[in-house]
Amino acid sequence: MNNNLANIKKSIFFLNKNDCVAIPTETVYGLAANAYSSIAVKKIYNLKKRPKNNPLIVHYSGLKQLEKDCVINKNFFILYKKFCPGPITFVLKLKKDSHISKIVTNNKRTIAVRFPKNNLTQKLLKLLKYPLAAPSANISTKISPVSKEDVREEFGNKIKFILDGGRSRIGLESTIISLVNKPKILRLGGIERAKINKVLKKNIRYVIKNKKINAPGQFKLHYSPGIPIRLNAKNSKTNEAFILIKKRKKSSINYFYLSKTKDFKQAAKNLYKILRLIKNKNYESIAVEKIPKIGFGEAINDRLKKASGK
Ligand code: TXA
Ligand code: MG
Repeated sequence: MNNNLANIKKSIFFLNKNDCVAIPTETVYGLAANAYSSIAVKKIYNLKKRPKNNPLIVHYSGLKQLEKDCVINKNFFILYKKFCPGPITFVLKLKKDSHISKIVTNNKRTIAVRFPKNNLTQKLLKLLKYPLAAPSANISTKISPVSKEDVREEFGNKIKFILDGGRSRIGLESTIISLVNKPKILRLGGIERAKINKVLKKNIRYVIKNKKINAPGQFKLHYSPGIPIRLNAKNSKTNEAFILIKKRKKSSINYFYLSKTKDFKQAAKNLYKILRLIKNKNYESIAVEKIPKIGFGEAINDRLKKASGK
């Protein structure tokens, strides 16, 4: 515990100097910086090699701080009460007098916000006088990190400090829902669509690409292990890793199991870990067996499709 507090203080030291610190969250690790400081936020874009027109998610400890920066509405309250802190990101209207750096939002009138669940990060946010802008702590287009070691593998010694919060519990990024007009889901993730539909008592649309923000095609390749991926494969070829949703009776050295018994939650947690593991071996390509689009299966399929460049 003392060790944790010392590490939180160390994070504050670097963040107050406008430096970036990697933070643990229940979804994936984030590369965090003061969202009110353009100097700090620019460092995130440089380190990640992220296109400047791709806005960042801002992380808050609670509603009081949030209300200074954005306009909240009824749907927000309903979802906040049910799921926060947790793996859901809201796109809301930015207040005119907010202190958020224009670089964070790419000069737009909307902002993506979330309340992460990890204990250390929650404590850190409470002790800071500003919210934290934090994209996933990976080089742009690469696999998202779910542990301190993953972050180190992405950035080496280029980042000042990693706050170690152990392995991310969910292992997939947050679900993004826009509440600016009619609610719409912009990214599938840590909270299943059916759960959101149930709470809002209607079927929320899933908009595959937000053309206003993402120039068509620009962010097509994502979560990429750097080798070709074939989806819905029945078997594997020579020098190919084979990702399977559940354990097979007859195993092979190139088989990688997302879960033991077709558990989609477990599979979501293991997905990036396994992609990274395969990336670090000498396979030439990856085959993935058909994964049903049930529950988290939908988000898993989405990530694999993007990782395959489709
Ligand atoms: O789970 C997560 O959300 C993780 C952890 C670290 O919190 N963060 C994360 O950030 O996944 P990132 O930057 O990898 O993905 C953020 C996504 C991007 O696709 C970006 O285009 C979208 O959020 N986004 C940010 N601001 C937006 C806005 N105002 N409107 C629509 N989309 C926005
Ligand atoms: Mg990302």
